[in-house]
Amino acid sequence: PVTRLWGGRFAGGPSEALARLSLSTHFDWRLAQHDIAGSRAHARVLRAAGLLSADELTEMLAGLDRLSADVASGAFQPVLEDEDVHTALERGFIERVGPELGGRLRAGRSRNDQIATLVRMYLREQARLLADGVLDLVAALAEQARGNIDVAMPGRTHLQHAQPVLLAHHLLAHAWPLIRDVERLRDWDRRADVSPYGSGALAGSSLGLDPEAVAADLGFSTSAENSIDGTAARDVVAEFAFVAAMIGVDLSRLAEEIILWSTKEFSFVTLDDAFATGSSIMPQKKNPDIAELARGKAGRLVGDLAGLLTTLKGLPLAYNRDLQEDKEPVFDAVDTLQLLLPAFTGMVATLTFNGPRMAELAPQGFSLATDIAEWLVREGVPFREAHELAGACVRACEERGVDLPDLSDAEFAAISPALTPRVREVLTVEGSLESRAGKGGTAPKRVAEQLDRLGAAVERH
Ligand code: ARG
Repeated sequence: PVTRLWGGRFAGGPSEALARLSLSTHFDWRLAQHDIAGSRAHARVLRAAGLLSADELTEMLAGLDRLSADVASGAFQPVLEDEDVHTALERGFIERVGPELGGRLRAGRSRNDQIATLVRMYLREQARLLADGVLDLVAALAEQARGNIDVAMPGRTHLQHAQPVLLAHHLLAHAWPLIRDVERLRDWDRRADVSPYGSGALAGSSLGLDPEAVAADLGFSTSAENSIDGTAARDVVAEFAFVAAMIGVDLSRLAEEIILWSTKEFSFVTLDDAFATGSSIMPQKKNPDIAELARGKAGRLVGDLAGLLTTLKGLPLAYNRDLQEDKEPVFDAVDTLQLLLPAFTGMVATLTFNGPRMAELAPQGFSLATDIAEWLVREGVPFREAHELAGACVRACEERGVDLPDLSDAEFAAISPALTPRVREVLTVEGSLESRAGKGGTAPKRVAEQLDRLGAAVERH
C-alpha cells in the first residue's frame, strides 16, 4: 500500500535508503493509542467547527474504536511502507472507514503538533509509574532503617572513618534524594501539562479548531500559548531525561556502597540469594550484579540526557526532523528505570546487615576524636585549642598502638589538665550518637523523628 502522507508534489516514491532512514515505527509505535486518543479529540473539534456532520463524527469515532481494538490485539500493525506511527494509523483508519471520511480527519493538524502532544501524554503516564517505583524503593529503605534502628556504623568522609552514625541515618540519607526525585517528577508534570495540539505545523490552524477543547479531552490543563513553541520545544522532554538520569545517579551511589559493603573486607551486608548472582567458574562467588548494573545503567541514563541535549543544541525554530531523535533516548530512559527499579528495590528490601560488625568498626579509626574536641568546648576550651588537644590524643594513641578509650587518666591529663576523666562519657559510640541531638543529627531520638517525617513525605506523594 502507498501510505505516504505527502505524495502530491512528488513524481515518484522515496528511495529505499531514504525510507529506511526515515522509518520510526519501530520505536514510535508505543504511542499508537495516544495517537488514536488525539484523533478522537481532533474529530470532536472538527465537528464543533462544523467541518463534520454529527453522523460523520459518530462514524469516525466508531472507526477509531475499531482501530484501537485492532492495535491492542495486534491485528493491526505498521508495515515497512508506513513512515511513522501517524502514517500507519491513517492507513488503518482509511482501511476501516473508507477514503472519503478517512481523508477528512487530518484537516488542521500536523504530525508536528501531534508528536509533540503524544510524547507529553506518554511521558506523563510514565512519570507517575516511575514515581511509584521510586517510592517503593524509599519504603524499602525506610523498612531497613526501622528494622536496624539500633545499629551504629562508621560514618565516612573521603571514604575514611569520620564519626559514628546510625545505619538508619545513613540509609535515610539515600531516601531523601529519592523523595526529591519524586518531587521533581511531580513538578515536571506542571510544565508537561500543556497540550501542543492545534499548533498545526507551526503557525496554528485556519479552520476554527479549539486547542483548549482538545487539551481538556487529552487530560491537559491547557494548550500551548505559542504554536511555534508548541511544535518546536523539547525542553520538557529533556527535563524528563534529566530526572531519569538523576534517579539513575542516585541509585548508583547507593549501589556503589552496597558493592563495597558486601566485600569480605567490609562484611557489612549479605545479599539475598534471589538478588545475587554466581560465577561460571568460581563456585564460591556471590556477586552484587544488580548494584553493578544500576551503577552501569546510570551512565546509560546520563548518555540519554546528553544525547538529547546535543540534538537540541542550536536547532532553529520551528520543527526540524532532528526532533524525531528525541524519542529513543527518553524511551530508553523509561525502559531502563522500569527494569531497574523493581530489581533494585528487591535487593535493598532483602539485605541482611551485620550489625555487630558495623558496631565494632564504628569507633575505630579515632572516629571519636571530634567528640573529645566538642566535649572540651562544652568545658569552656576554645575550639581551635580543643581541636589541637584532641589531635594530640590521636597522636598519643598512634604512638602506643591503642584507641582513644585506652588512654589512661594520666595520659589524658598529661596532654591537658582540661582532659579530666569525665571525658570518658563521650568516648563511647552511644555517647557520641546521643550527643548529636540537633535537628537532622544522628541521635537515635532525631532519627526516629526523621523516619516519621519520611513516612509523611511518602504519604504526601
Ligand atoms: N516522526 C516525526 C517525529 O517523530 C513526526 C513528525 C514528522 N513531521 C514531519 N514534518 N516530517 O518527529
